[in-house]
Formats: sequence, structure tokens, C-alpha cells
Amino acid sequence: MTDRPPGLDDASSEPGGSASGRAWWHHAVGYAVYLRSFADADGDGIGDLAGVIERLDHLSALGVDLLWLTPFHPSPLADNGYDITDYYGVDPTLGDLETVRRLLDAAHRRSIRVVMDLVPNHTSNQHPWFRAALADPAGPERGYYLWRDPAPDGGPPNNWVSCFGGPAWTLDPGSGQYYLHLFLPEQPDLDWRNPAVADEFDAIIRFWLELGVDGFRIDVAQGLVKDAALRSNPQLAPWDPGQRREQQWAAFEHRYDIAQPETLDVFGRWRRLCDAYGAVLIGETYVLEADRYAAMLRGDGLDLGFWFGTMHAGWDAAALRHALAAPLQHVDDHRVIAWAASSLDEVRVATRLGGGEEGRRRALALATLLFCLPGVPFLYQGEELGLLEGIVAPESRTDPVGADVQQSRDGCRTPMPWAPGPNFGFSTAARTWLPDGGRRAEDTVAAQLGRDGSWLERYRALVALRRATPALRQGPFAWADLGHDALGAFHRGPWTVAANLGTEPVVAPVAGTVAFDSLGLAEVGAQVESITLAPAQAVVVATARASAVEGGPTTPDADRSAA
Ligand code: NOJ
Repeated sequence: MTDRPPGLDDASSEPGGSASGRAWWHHAVGYAVYLRSFADADGDGIGDLAGVIERLDHLSALGVDLLWLTPFHPSPLADNGYDITDYYGVDPTLGDLETVRRLLDAAHRRSIRVVMDLVPNHTSNQHPWFRAALADPAGPERGYYLWRDPAPDGGPPNNWVSCFGGPAWTLDPGSGQYYLHLFLPEQPDLDWRNPAVADEFDAIIRFWLELGVDGFRIDVAQGLVKDAALRSNPQLAPWDPGQRREQQWAAFEHRYDIAQPETLDVFGRWRRLCDAYGAVLIGETYVLEADRYAAMLRGDGLDLGFWFGTMHAGWDAAALRHALAAPLQHVDDHRVIAWAASSLDEVRVATRLGGGEEGRRRALALATLLFCLPGVPFLYQGEELGLLEGIVAPESRTDPVGADVQQSRDGCRTPMPWAPGPNFGFSTAARTWLPDGGRRAEDTVAAQLGRDGSWLERYRALVALRRATPALRQGPFAWADLGHDALGAFHRGPWTVAANLGTEPVVAPVAGTVAFDSLGLAEVGAQVESITLAPAQAVVVATARASAVEGGPTTPDADRSAA
């Protein structure tokens, strides 16, 4: 196990920690690294673990203290690493166990905790368990997966569809049975009602905790346990496998395939394992109905769960306000909400909200709200640079999901632009695994770091303000009605956060000292009686009481050590 320096255990005395006092993540700022596209240290055109080590200073400078890494295990890459053949191994193109140890040490030295991806819903079809299950239908591994006889007409056993489109069942001609896969046929689902599967994952989790990881992001957390009888879902609309994948998914009410209550037992089991190590459990929890999302977060299981409503709203004030309000309305303890506007699977937020400079402005306005709401905010790599969706020509796409541009996830996964020059500093290879996405010199970290008013500096200022301001992390939350439908606004104790989510200027009756302005129109420290917010302008304002209590908005790093 790598040493955790004392600084990493300093949250034990934080108010609002769990009974065991281990809830350091309540104050964290998260950052998602798409490993294959973050930084390539060995020059093969693929990002790797050593590359992350080399770029940790960027994360420190940004103020990140929780790093989530996408999977680094051996994989045939049917789904870019989310199809694993060895949960204890490291893919040689990404590093080895020693590199993981070095990364943990290097991150911990900077007070950054490292959370790895755990992929327990499915394995690769090349995993030894699945190979054994295919080879010997009477053997123990057969029961690790979900097999059923065909329906009377010879078709799949029920009407479930894959998240990637098409039926969720594939026939094994050898045994004449179908196996279930909520994603690709190359990703067979494990049967979480089989205790042997749970035992296997206990051992995997312990292995990585012993090595020193600080927690897990649980892939497809909502999907682990399925209905015991595998009943068909109620159908809401006509379904056909030629439809777009979202449309196929929306054709059914997902009553029996996801968000089953027994999943909480699995989380509880893992929580007991993680408690001994002070490790965090973060669920992907991809459930768009807020009540069902909240249900996944109850009990003594997940510490955090990602909310995806924010990735499904366009630039529409009512839709955005709803996307923020829904989880807050349904979740009992707001601190468990993990907020994000971009991810490895979705069109980048700046593009989704309109593209160009306007989209970038809107993305930062939304981030301002997310960083001040109760819960834990995450950035997806490059969001801090205002990156738009990368451009990837059809012949360069690698994502198995959707050959067409609207469905492919390649555009949000193009390499991180570090500096002007070849491959924008991502790699020295002649050719990178995905093209650079059409970045410009001004998109790079080197061009933006230290440049007044750059996207990177604005995101850094926002992160610094959150870190410096206990009330923005844990102060009492209340929505603010500022009298205009275009505004999204709330109070955190004596602080007010307001964003113009519309397309016209709006006067916001907010009085106090400006601590952050996403567009840099108002000076930090300016006293205002009210403020005219331009479209996509977001501000954080300290009332007189906030200034007195917190030392004012001009001391950004005041309580960094407690954050
Ligand atoms: C969610 C991951 O983020 C995505 O990239 C992957 O395709 C699916 N889970 C399946 O593992």
C-alpha cells in the first residue's frame, strides 16, 4: 500500500463528515481523466498512466483534489477499456502496477486522491470467466453470467434493449441459450445475484485498496442487479433496432433492468470494505428519473452518485433549473450528489449549449452554479479550457457506438491540448489513436495558463473560490427568487449565486461584494446594489455578513488546507 500523507486524512474533523469521520470527499473538487487521451508519456500515440503523473501539476494548479481515472486494465477494446479481461492487471500500453503505485504516490504528495473505475456490471467476452462459461455450460463460471432459454418463438427471452441499441440478448449457438448484455455483445453482464460474483469483486476491491487507491467510480452502478425473474419492461412506444439508440432506450419504461433495490445491498457490502480504507464509492447512477436516482443513493452504500440531468438540458432556463432542482428535491442528503456537465460519453457541454464563444460562456455559467450547489462538482478533462466537441472524420472514429457523428462519443474523447505544436503536446507519436479534434493554439493549457481572462484562469478562480469558502461547500442552501424567469439563483448561507440562463440582459437584485464573475465584467471586490447580468453571465456575491464571516472574497486560498 502506498503511504497516504497526513494531509490526506485531514478531513476527519470536518463538520458534516460521516460517523466514521472519513468523508473527505464532501469538500473535494473532482476531475475526470480519459486516460487514453490525457497525456502520452511513451510516445505510442496513446495516453497512459505515466502521462498522468507528468501532468499532475496541471491538476494541482487547477485546485483539483479528486482524480477519477477511466479503466486501465487489459482489454480487447471493444468498448475502449470498459470490457475487461483481467481486473487485477494493467494494460501494457497504459503502464503496469508499478506505474499505478508511482501515480498514487505522486498524486498523494500533491494531496490529490485517486479514484479508479470499477466495471462490475459486465466483463469482456474474452475474460476467462466468460470463456469458461461458453466452453462448459455445466461449470461454475456459467452462473457468473445471465443465461436464458429462447422465448417460445426462438427470439430473446425478454424485450430488454441494450443501452447501445439493439436487443440486450445474444444467442450462444453452442448451448442454444441467450446471454444478457446491457451494452455490447462483447460485454456480457455478470449475475449479481450469484454470491460467487460478489466474492470475486470483494477480492478485486481489496486488492486495489491495499495498493492505495482512494476509491472507485462504479461503472453502470444502476444496472448491477436485475429483476429476479427478468420480466419484460413495459413498452411505451414502438421499438425498432434501426432507431437511434436514445430512441430505442426511451421506447421502454426501465422498470426491471435498472435501478433495482437489491443493488443497494451490493453497495453496502462494498461500503463496508471501503470504510476501513477511508475510500469513496462513487456511482455512475445513470438514472434520469430523479426519484429513482435518489433511491440508488439511500442506505449505507454509495457516498456519491453522478446526476446526469445536467447533460440532457439545452440552453433553456426552465430546463436547466429543473435539471438542477430535481435531484435536490429527491435526494435526502444533498452532499451525495456528484454534479457534472460533461463526460467521456456525452457531447461536450460548450458545444451542447450552443458552441463557439457563446457555448463556452454558457458552459462556465452552468459550472458556476454546479460549483456552488450542495454536493461535489466534477470537471471532465479539457472543460477547464473551454473545449468544444472535437472534430473526428468518419474514417478516424473508434467508438463502437454509433457510426454517425451525433451518436459517436469520439468527439468528446479527442486528446487533451497541452501546448501549441505537434499533437498539441499530447504525444510525440507521428499519429495519435484519435486525431487532435481540430484544436487551436489558444485552446491549449500553455496558452491559457496565467493569461488574464482565459477560460483556464476563470475556471481556476471558480475552483479557488469554492475551496476558500466553507459556506459554498456546506452552507445552508435555498433557492432564490430574483423575480425573473431567465435567472437561476440560490443562496448558500450569506452568499448568493446567480446566473442569467437566458438570451437577454436581466437585472438581478443582488446586493453585496462580487466574489466571482464568470465573464469578468464586474470587478472582484466591487460593491453592488444590483447587477445587470448579460446572457450567460454568472456571479457569486458575498453579502455584508458573508464578508465579515468568511474574511471576504479576496482571500481565495484562506482555508485550502481544510478543503
Ligand atoms: C459507462 C462508461 O462511461 C461508458 O464509456 C461505457 O461505454 C459504459 N459505461 C459501459 O461500460
